[in-house]
Amino acid sequence: MKTILITGSNGLIGSEMVKHFHGLGWGVHGIDNNMRGDFFGPQGDTRWNQQRLLTECAGFTHHEQDVRDRLGIIELVGQLEPDAVLHAAAQPSHDLAAARPFDDFDVNAVGTLNLLEAVRRVCPHSPFVYLSTNKVYGDAPNRIRLRELDTRWDYDDEQYVGGIAEDFSIDQSKHSLFGASKVAADIMVQEYGRYFGIPTCCLRGGCLTGPSHSGVELHGFLSYLIKQNLSGGTYQVYGYKGKQVRDNIHSYDVARFVEEFLAAPRCAEVYNLGGGRQNSCSILEAFSRVEGITGNRMIWQYVDKAREGDHICYISSLEKIQDHYPGWKISKSLDDIFSEIADAWVVRSR
Ligand SMILES: NC(=O)c1ccc[n+]([C@@H]2O[C@H](COP(=O)([O-])OP(=O)(O)OC[C@H]3O[C@@H](n4cnc5c(N)ncnc54)[C@H](O)[C@@H]3O)[C@@H](O)[C@H]2O)c1
Repeated sequence: MKTILITGSNGLIGSEMVKHFHGLGWGVHGIDNNMRGDFFGPQGDTRWNQQRLLTECAGFTHHEQDVRDRLGIIELVGQLEPDAVLHAAAQPSHDLAAARPFDDFDVNAVGTLNLLEAVRRVCPHSPFVYLSTNKVYGDAPNRIRLRELDTRWDYDDEQYVGGIAEDFSIDQSKHSLFGASKVAADIMVQEYGRYFGIPTCCLRGGCLTGPSHSGVELHGFLSYLIKQNLSGGTYQVYGYKGKQVRDNIHSYDVARFVEEFLAAPRCAEVYNLGGGRQNSCSILEAFSRVEGITGNRMIWQYVDKAREGDHICYISSLEKIQDHYPGWKISKSLDDIFSEIADAWVVRSR
């Protein structure tokens, strides 16, 4: 039986990977110390998801391990000698990184180095997939010429109609400290591929979402927006008239891609991975869509100040990823995503 080691296994992406690879018959080991609860308080707590995985996935092993603990990571990887590593543990928020810069860098950059070095020493032939982010491009996407439509911003430049590709500059723009720590990790993952020949892959995520997110105001936009709609809470819109655009991909489609990559790994690869134009929406469009699904009016307030480094319009080009892996495509539509998240919040609030 093949084994996979998944970090951040209590989180949105990690937990989807656990379910997916358990379903494919792999031996699955997860690492998580519930640091999301420490970052975001009780609303960010992920223990519920850990319990769910332990109940639903017989044979799944949880390791209460901190990715910052270098020796602990090297020892665990040494014991398991996994056939693949999926690294999704992270401090995921711009704003929190500014408040806790050492924790942000230690988790995102140093934690990634700890895992890479453990893999190099123990199992250098095992593919290493890293959940990077579109924030490695900083706010440079905001320099693309835009046009304002009734409910969203859109690119006003032919070159970007299909979205932003992997050769977009990651240099000389405002990243936030979070974006900077993720760039450090992204480059390190590529380097362990190029320099040591490890089959590594960076997935520069757009908006990764799904029913297992513990969405909070500072991270997990759709999950949090739908939760607020269901509970009658107020959603704060920060700048850009609420017309800022994100492309949304269901965590299941992320897991499906990782399955494809592990079946035919490549070295030092980088892919943009979001929902593409077909799954893009602005915040205003998300309000109408959720109102249509739940029947609840969205209560929201406008704050006339954009978040630092926020993208005005971000759509991932999926051309390269689909060219390299033609067996992969987006299978969950925006409607699927909204309905599944809404259903999950209803169940969790019982
Ligand atoms: N969700 C998104 O929209 C999005 C977009 C782009 C990129 N990403 C990236 O994808 C990855 C996964 O994101 P997610 O949405 O699943 O986040 P998440 O917060 O739901 O999951 C991350 C998990 O990592 C755990 N963790 C944090 N610090 C840890 C540590 N020191 N040791 C062990 N575990 C620790 C947390 O407790 C949490 O369960 C992250 O790298 C994130 O930057 C996410």
